[in-house]
Amino acid sequence: MALIRLIYASVASNIFKSNDVVTILNVSRINNAMREVTGLLFFNKHFFLQCLEGEEQQVEETYDHIAKDTRHEKVTILSCKTINSRSFPNWTMGYVPQSQLTNELAQSFCDSGTFDPFAMQGDSAYELLCKLKEQVPNH
Ligand SMILES: Cc1cc2nc3c(=O)[nH]c(=O)nc-3n(C[C@H](O)[C@H](O)[C@H](O)COP(=O)(O)O)c2cc1C
Repeated sequence: MALIRLIYASVASNIFKSNDVVTILNVSRINNAMREVTGLLFFNKHFFLQCLEGEEQQVEETYDHIAKDTRHEKVTILSCKTINSRSFPNWTMGYVPQSQLTNELAQSFCDSGTFDPFAMQGDSAYELLCKLKEQVPNH
């Protein structure tokens, strides 16, 4: 079975509340552990950027649930590739909240100087997530 890495971007919808992040992470960590999906979620209070890694079928199943979730919208795949090994093996879903450091990092990956994941190439989104990973304990 092929391992894949899927990266998508989305925008928090108007029904999204800030404490939804806790609920999302709790559910994600239970479901992802069952599906052996790992990854990282970055949220800057407007955009989500998430990476999902695992067996193709499990990642696709997870993404299908996520894409239907009305707490976010404009869910757009930036990259989906076969991989040899996981880059985020330690997290059933690592979380990177916004900080001054993540703001600067995210902006540095965007030509306009303003973080906009929809304007990013998949490879660049992946590199940003790898840098953001350094902000999460247990990397
Ligand atoms: C930004 C965002 C990221 C999410 N990430 C995951 C995830 O990694 N794994 C997961 O099982 N659910 C994730 N969810 C929650 C799913 O959308 C969904 O609520 C959950 O999988 C339960 O599925 P169901 O409501 O179709 O039963 C995420 C939701 C949002 C809004």
